[in-house]
Amino acid sequence: MLSTHQSGKQAEGKGNMKTELVGNNPEQRNWKGMAIALLVILAVCGFVILAVVLLSPEETTTVYAKILLDDVVNEKWKTGLAADTSWIGPILVWRDHYGNVMKTTSHNLPSQPLIRNQTMMDYGISSFKVSADLKYALLAFNEKKIYSASYNASYFIYNIETRSREPLVHESRDVFQFAGFGPNASQMIYVIDGDVYYKPSVAGDAIRLTRDGVYGVVINGLTDWLYEDEIFGTNVAHWFSPNGRYLAYARFDDTNVADGYVTSYTSDTSQIDPPTTPTASFYKSPKAGSTNPSVSVHVVDLESRDQVALSPPLVSREWLRMLQSVTWTRDSQYLLVTWSNRTQTLSVTQQCYPTSATCVDDVLQLRSRNNGWIPQLVCTIAVYQCKLI
Ligand SMILES: *[C@@H]1O[C@H](CO)[C@@H](O)[C@H](O)[C@H]1NC(C)=O
Ligand SMILES: *[C@@H]1O[C@H](CO)[C@@H](O)[C@H](O)[C@H]1NC(C)=O
Ligand SMILES: *[C@@H]1O[C@H](CO)[C@@H](O)[C@H](O)[C@H]1NC(C)=O
Ligand SMILES: *[C@@H]1O[C@H](CO)[C@@H](O)[C@H](O)[C@H]1NC(C)=O
Repeated sequence: MLSTHQSGKQAEGKGNMKTELVGNNPEQRNWKGMAIALLVILAVCGFVILAVVLLSPEETTTVYAKILLDDVVNEKWKTGLAADTSWIGPILVWRDHYGNVMKTTSHNLPSQPLIRNQTMMDYGISSFKVSADLKYALLAFNEKKIYSASYNASYFIYNIETRSREPLVHESRDVFQFAGFGPNASQMIYVIDGDVYYKPSVAGDAIRLTRDGVYGVVINGLTDWLYEDEIFGTNVAHWFSPNGRYLAYARFDDTNVADGYVTSYTSDTSQIDPPTTPTASFYKSPKAGSTNPSVSVHVVDLESRDQVALSPPLVSREWLRMLQSVTWTRDSQYLLVTWSNRTQTLSVTQQCYPTSATCVDDVLQLRSRNNGWIPQLVCTIAVYQCKLI
């Protein structure tokens, strides 16, 4: 009884609604308006899509990189997840999602393998660098992390054509602080115990470029802890001229910098059983007000082996001694070197010639108005194009 009554009431309500909707004439005219609006929207969308299609660059190549759990654990994104992707002139070298090192010469040609994933796995390779002439690769293994970007590693020199390899060895030493190629042919450098060595080609003999390196104290071509973690964000402190003729490098002298240390509760040899006594590892770590590393910038002519030490800028009888950035101009004619005072209230960019110790000071000067920090100035490879970061 009750339910019949209710459904009757509902039916009545629905009937009323129906009558109202059908009987409403102005609503019918609106359907036309809506259809026209819809057409207009579709037309606009069509134009937008057409414009995007017409104006977008010809074609893109999608690169699917392989991201491993190790990359996440080792915080590889800090150096860029594209670390395995690089341009060598117009050629893109990258690592595909199968772990093969590939080269792509043009978007309408298929990519070709340079180093097979099996090779990388068989030799336990963690990272690679390919020479400018695409003939050789440096394959790193046994990487031992030091600070955020630096690591010790051993390397194979891999011949891409013959698929043969030989270990990189320097006077029976096979652990390097750095090894990498320059922009010309297969020229390369490596760093051991804070000293830089140069090979004009993979097959050539190594030439010692610096002699005063002391591991962790006097470092040539690579940063100390302060510059690696706080200023450059990389451990690389050397810069080949684009034509490969010159090598600029920074030298960090931390002799007078106080030690900081971290306490370790594990060690390499007993990772499962923690050692009963923790160990301390010391590293040069200046604190506010204490002595900073002393930095100098040097340029080697790799043909004549002549070297110059560039003089930092002198402003109001004060030397600016904090290095901010070093950049070559595209034509390899000169370098832009930016320095600041310790409090970073003033920075000066110099224009330096690779063969002369004196630079043209002050091609660019930034001074903070309120005694706050000025941003870091990084010049790109073009004359006077510097950006604040
Ligand atoms: C190696 O790469 C090939 C494709 O080139 C793929 O078929 C194979 O599964 C890869 N091997 C591994 C172990 O990822
Ligand atoms: C790196 O190599 C140097 C020797 O060149 C050594 O003194 C240092 O302990 C090594 N560091 C690590 C983390 O393996
Ligand atoms: C580049 O490499 C080639 C081949 O090794 C060499 O003949 C040439 O002199 C090099 N150029 C420079 C600028 O080092
Ligand atoms: C560098 O900074 C300090 C502190 O702000 C300032 O006293 C000094 O004048 C600055 N140096 C120059 C050359 O402007």
